[in-house]
Amino acid sequence: MTIMDDAEQQTPVGQDRLQAALAPLLSRRSANALEEPGPDDRQLEALLEAAATAPDHGWIRPYRFVVVRGDGRQALGRALVEAAMEADPLLDAAVAAKLAAKTRIAPVMVLLVASPDVTHKVAVWEQVATASCAGFGLVLAADLAGFGAMWKSAPWLAGRALSGLLRLTEHEQLLGWVNLGTRAGTGPTRRPAEARLLTTRLDGDTVLPWG
Ligand SMILES: Cc1cc2nc3c(=O)[nH]c(=O)nc-3n(C[C@H](O)[C@H](O)[C@H](O)COP(=O)(O)O)c2cc1C
Repeated sequence: MTIMDDAEQQTPVGQDRLQAALAPLLSRRSANALEEPGPDDRQLEALLEAAATAPDHGWIRPYRFVVVRGDGRQALGRALVEAAMEADPLLDAAVAAKLAAKTRIAPVMVLLVASPDVTHKVAVWEQVATASCAGFGLVLAADLAGFGAMWKSAPWLAGRALSGLLRLTEHEQLLGWVNLGTRAGTGPTRRPAEARLLTTRLDGDTVLPWG
């Protein structure tokens, strides 16, 4: 039995309808090459509202977004380089230039900050997981809305320069950013993940392959 057969048996949704419903998700592709226009503020607010539907144990909203456009991108670029140099004072100039360039790729960047409530009974790791879900929600929402989106990061996302610029508090953590804009060019086609190979099932106390 395949996973899809199983889904068909357990739900009132037929296979055709299931595949049609999943098509936008299965065909989603991150967009490396982006151009203007990016989402305007009203569109962005709708995308962020969608992102904020992330599963959230305790309704803590343990994340926040920082929208970066225009001059803000230069300031962020400088802070990324400073953050890298805090960690590695001998940072290669070419690496520094590449880091700064990361902020010039997209019309809009949305920085994703995990902002856990460390006094809450819900574990911090769960809250960071929620923040990560919000990141995927934003990528997915943008893609569904017809924008190009890609979650990006840098090897150095901590340090005084970044926490100062973004006013990060002690327990906050930058999880990277989502680049947003109009898709420019097509990316490679993703190979199917073959989820069945990532999946096992518990049969009594035995773990078996699924499908
Ligand atoms: C936290 C996080 C950080 C990432 N940082 C980068 C990055 O800096 N550069 C990059 O090329 N891809 C990065 N990725 C991966 C891309 O966003 C993207 O998922 C990957 O290229 C696969 O493409 P797809 O989303 O179309 O399957 C990151 C993903 C996550 C979740």
